[in-house]
Amino acid sequence: MRQKDDGYKINGSFKGKDIISLDQFSTKDLLLLFSHVSRMKDLAQKSKPSALLAGKIVTLIFYEPSSRTFGSFSSAIKRLGGQTVAILDPQHFSSVSKGETLEDTIRVFEAYSDAIVIRHPIAGTSKAAAEAAFFVPIINAGDGIGEHPTQALQDLYTIYKKCNRLDNLMGVMAGDILNGRTIHSLLRGLCLFKKNTIYLLSPKQLRLSRADFLRFLKQGIRLIEIESEKNIPKNAHFWYWTRVQKERFERLSDYEKVKNRFVVTKKLLENFGNTHLILMHPLPRVGEIHPEIDIDERAVYLRSQIRNGLYIRMALLALILGKLT
Ligand code: NCD
Repeated sequence: MRQKDDGYKINGSFKGKDIISLDQFSTKDLLLLFSHVSRMKDLAQKSKPSALLAGKIVTLIFYEPSSRTFGSFSSAIKRLGGQTVAILDPQHFSSVSKGETLEDTIRVFEAYSDAIVIRHPIAGTSKAAAEAAFFVPIINAGDGIGEHPTQALQDLYTIYKKCNRLDNLMGVMAGDILNGRTIHSLLRGLCLFKKNTIYLLSPKQLRLSRADFLRFLKQGIRLIEIESEKNIPKNAHFWYWTRVQKERFERLSDYEKVKNRFVVTKKLLENFGNTHLILMHPLPRVGEIHPEIDIDERAVYLRSQIRNGLYIRMALLALILGKLT
């Protein structure tokens, strides 16, 4: 949405703000958001829907497939008494198929709704959408290999609930560090806090881009790149596993070479884990966490991590739409 010059940063006020990148947040902004989450959890668990977003309509326009992000946004809006206009696969089921530009599509849907949530295969598209919108905030639900800020908010909250802090942490991120947008946003979030150390476990081809690597180091985070499970530190607070992003490869054979190079098994957890860590994954998983792990209490990917995604999106929407302060 058209913002004043300093409007990009959240700066203590979410109302009317686009959510494009974790760079917009300060530690205070994150804690403000988190302060509303337990109330959202209470609301979600009541059988009577809340009326916090009554009369509000949010457009969900997803140019890429989605289960959790689409589902949790839809549920969050409806749990708070709001409604959605859902455009899935706009390349086939909207005027995009007739050649309509992104800018026109955004300007049309802002006439119908109070906010637009967009997922797109090209990095930078949410920012372009925000620049095109005159009246309503835009929320990035994943832009190519760029960022996925709302996933990072749920991930940061999950770590915060478990560890009671977001500084002085030791974490392991594994899989597709180069193309994983959830990782790009989560690293930005962890950079906001002091004394965090992250081990990045990936094949060489899937390391973080050098520009991002240097930029994050400058912000004070310790990043240690490793290529073997043997170098996983045994005292990590969390493991954040990810899928190799098949859709970002030009050649299937290149994907086949690196897919499931690193798989979490009982043995890996026994050898390199500890009793207090949590095992996270943004999902979907396609083999990189063995299902035998699911019953382990430390595996939060199908439990609190998922639920937190709903509550955090409820709080975020209510703040952006001016229903919470
Ligand atoms: C992720 C995404 O879309 O970036 N999924 C999600 O939103 N939870 C991760 C992935 O697709 O690997």
